[in-house]
Amino acid sequence: RQRVQIQFVEDKQEFSRFPTKAGRRSLSRSISQSSTDSYSSAASYTDSSDDETSPRDKTQLNSKGTSDFCVKNIKQAEFGRREIEIAEQDMSALISLRKRAQGEKPLAGAKIVGCTHITAQTAVLIETLVALGAQCRWTACNIYSTQNEVAAALSEIGVAVFAWKGESEDDFWWCIDKCVNMEGWQPNMILDDGGDLTHWVYKKYPNVFKKIRGIVEESVTGVHRLYQLSKAGKLCVPAMNVNDSVTKQKFDNLYCCRESILDGLKRTTDVMFGGKQVVVCGYGEVGKGCTAALKAMGSIVYVTEIDPICALQACMDGFRVVKLNEVIRQVDVIITCTGNKNVVTRDQLDRMKNGSIVCNMGHSNTEIDVASLRTPELTWERVRSQVDHVIWPDGKRVILLAEGRLLNLSCSTVPTFVLSITATTQALALIELYNAPEGRYKQDVYLLPKKMGESLLYLHLFGALHENTEK
Ligand SMILES: *[C@@H]1O[C@H](CO)[C@@H](O)[C@H](O)[C@H]1NC(C)=O
Ligand SMILES: *[C@@H]1O[C@H](CO)[C@@H](O)[C@H](O)[C@H]1NC(C)=O
Ligand SMILES: *[C@@H]1O[C@H](CO)[C@@H](O)[C@H](O)[C@H]1NC(C)=O
Repeated sequence: RQRVQIQFVEDKQEFSRFPTKAGRRSLSRSISQSSTDSYSSAASYTDSSDDETSPRDKTQLNSKGTSDFCVKNIKQAEFGRREIEIAEQDMSALISLRKRAQGEKPLAGAKIVGCTHITAQTAVLIETLVALGAQCRWTACNIYSTQNEVAAALSEIGVAVFAWKGESEDDFWWCIDKCVNMEGWQPNMILDDGGDLTHWVYKKYPNVFKKIRGIVEESVTGVHRLYQLSKAGKLCVPAMNVNDSVTKQKFDNLYCCRESILDGLKRTTDVMFGGKQVVVCGYGEVGKGCTAALKAMGSIVYVTEIDPICALQACMDGFRVVKLNEVIRQVDVIITCTGNKNVVTRDQLDRMKNGSIVCNMGHSNTEIDVASLRTPELTWERVRSQVDHVIWPDGKRVILLAEGRLLNLSCSTVPTFVLSITATTQALALIELYNAPEGRYKQDVYLLPKKMGESLLYLHLFGALHENTEK
């Protein structure tokens, strides 16, 4: 078989004025115990159906008369199609990959079994893989995150999807098994998110690995499981770790937080940002993102920062650099993102004013000394999911969000553009592993080659620029 390589060389020259920085990107978002720590948008609007019948007990046909799928309700396919079309608009990198590689069909002959969140954004990925020549069977890596209408839309076009929102543990493994265990069809690629699919194949169908050319794994947990297999000498195919990608630093920290800080605060508290006094602790990438968004909304923003470079940057960007104690009595909102422990102490929480909001945007969940608030003299009142009022003996209330855990993970959704980066990385990794000449990859865990990481950036750049010039 002829090996296909996609060339992005001209692209590189054309855009050489844009620096490419190699960065790292973590994909950690915990939704349920059932699987994974990767991102999902997980928004769905057709789940209020009264139909309590388990999809496993129903026989459904798509309009072509096939029944090789199991979803909540195939009749929702139209809704799902619209969701997918909306997602496509902000996933121009994948669409551009589709256009560039459609003629070459770099995945012709690929039989991919996938286990990821099943959302409109994943559907754009799956349909891209199909456009590049692959056959796909798909299941959900999380029992809650499936968008039923999207699963229906995929089944309608002939992708074998086994997933619905609210699966039981037993359903979860049943669906995985249905994907792998199909007469006359054996996968030769695995796309996994969390490692459950890989684990299942190892346990139940070890022979399948004779045909597998590679595993692409998304989540930190799954990658960890692969390294363990590799160490034990049990990994019998190459695997690609797409946990790390070039865009981590800028995208996840700066831009994602700039998008999600307002969303997270709004959903939980309905706060008005204009005129509010906000103190952001830490002026790293996350702090830069948060302050930029709040400033644009008309908040009065203070910054605390111990690193002199970042502190000077905050000054240059027009923020008042202060010590937390100087402003603690007057601020309406405290946001921590320093990466350190006990940035907001009990003593400071004692001095905050009635009705102020405290939340954390940093990676650790120890920035706010939440443990110190669990004392008998303070009353905790849960007012919404992720929102607690902590009440002092004199009646003062402090509003604590997500119990001091990362606000954006618990209280906001992930922008499609960010999911597009993940999905494009997965597609490129599959193409690379499937087409790699014998011997390029051994039975080990690899990072996406740097060259591919750059292609990824160019694909997004094209998308972004295309959007700008077309209007
Ligand atoms: C995944 O990425 C995160 C963030 O870049 C990093 O801390 C972690 O070590 C990576 N995990 C693996 C298994 O590569
Ligand atoms: C949430 O914030 C962290 C930084 O603390 C960032 O790395 C991550 O990408 C953000 N996620 C979203 C979905 O905004
Ligand atoms: C705190 O604010 C609430 C709501 O405005 C008010 O009912 C309460 O009396 C205030 N408590 C104190 C101690 O100021």
